[in-house]
Amino acid sequence: MQAETSAAVRKLDQDVERVLIDEASLKRRLAELGAAITTAYAGKDLLLIAVLKGSVLFLADLIRCIPIPHEIDFMATSSYGAGVQSSGVVRILKDLNKPIEGRHVLLVEDIIDSGHTLAYLSGLLAARNPASLQIVTLLDKPDRREVAIDVAWTGFSIPNEFVIGYGLDYDECYRNLPYIGILKPEVYSLSETGEPAE
Ligand code: PRP
Repeated sequence: MQAETSAAVRKLDQDVERVLIDEASLKRRLAELGAAITTAYAGKDLLLIAVLKGSVLFLADLIRCIPIPHEIDFMATSSYGAGVQSSGVVRILKDLNKPIEGRHVLLVEDIIDSGHTLAYLSGLLAARNPASLQIVTLLDKPDRREVAIDVAWTGFSIPNEFVIGYGLDYDECYRNLPYIGILKPEVYSLSETGEPAE
């Protein structure tokens, strides 16, 4: 009982090796991204589509930096395959609520890793005839790319480290950290596979 209670109140940031992008840097960069997006879409019928779940915090803060009318919608995907390696096969768990034909669509991602998720989603959405289709991602790990992706706006290009926080999880935890941190290797080396599964 006592062990359970102390585990429950354990501070998540004890598992963080170091902060990669702090709150102030996130705020500054989001203001820049928001300004660029506002300029690009002024007077257009803008629809932001966030890919659940990691991009929720990014979307919530980003749209407060986009002071023009727009709508938001969500998609959820799942990639098959164990551990950190993406299999390249993407399954749609939740689709959009409305058609996107003729609308200016901006896909909002928290991180691009192999690129398979966005390659699949871009193809799927392009086939629905939007007026335009662009991508904004908070983080990009270019070293991990397996499929080329045309990204309009990138928040930060980062090294191939296991990052958590600000929406990004390890085993569904740490999404609520207000910064992007690098997870201590001993945390994921204790997992069953011995490999991180972001
Ligand atoms: C992450 C991220 C992207 C995808 C990127 O999602 O949010 O959707 O992986 O990887 P890729 O470029 O190799 O396809 P994840 O599957 O971890 O789900 P989550 O957002 O719900 O945590």
